[in-house]
Amino acid sequence: MNAKQLAGEKAAKFVTDGMTVGLGTGSTVYYTIQRLGEMVREGLRIRGIPTSRRTEQQAREVGIPLISFAEVSELDLTIDGADEVSSELDLIKGGGGALLREKLVAAASRRLIVVADSSKRVATLGRFPLPVEVVPFAWEVTARRVADVGCVPTRRSVDGEPFVSDNGNYILDCAFGSIPDPADRHRALKLLPGVVETGLFVGMAETVVIGSESGVSLLRR
Ligand code: A5P
Repeated sequence: MNAKQLAGEKAAKFVTDGMTVGLGTGSTVYYTIQRLGEMVREGLRIRGIPTSRRTEQQAREVGIPLISFAEVSELDLTIDGADEVSSELDLIKGGGGALLREKLVAAASRRLIVVADSSKRVATLGRFPLPVEVVPFAWEVTARRVADVGCVPTRRSVDGEPFVSDNGNYILDCAFGSIPDPADRHRALKLLPGVVETGLFVGMAETVVIGSESGVSLLRR
């Protein structure tokens, strides 16, 4: 079993009968969702809110009942991946482009459980370019303002076309090199007109489930 699968499946154990669950996005939480589908078929009763269209499709395929925020305003638990996990358990997320819905779902959850392989652990965030979601209108102006916060932003593209998020926005991948002050960087970016959300998840993760060749370990806040 690979490290992502080990972490992803282990995290499914946090889910118990009757819970409302935020379903993250990415190749690690993929395994959590597959396992939750098996548990639902074995009788587990849960209701999920997906963080992306991709996850929504997977959840439907494995038979997890889905709800929306019209029905609940708070979730018991969210399980999601990360691109970097610092020693303080702060995160960079959004490598898959789902950061806005991931942030909304995590913020509406009593607990955030993160699943990752050991390559995601860092002492200080920032080697992974920080994804920042921006509105397409005047994105060039927004990108210049984002650069003034101390990074080199690049608009994400796929096959030569701009990447468009599930919310119709662009993503700027922002090379900071190092982010020793994630809360301050997040606040500075959020103040800029045109910035919708950043991939900095500060003080949100309760537990990180790390998979490696030697097994699974838990990091707790
Ligand atoms: C999606 O936008 C991201 O936040 C993912 O959760 C993150 O990129 C982790 O993905 P992997 O588990 O595929 O590495």
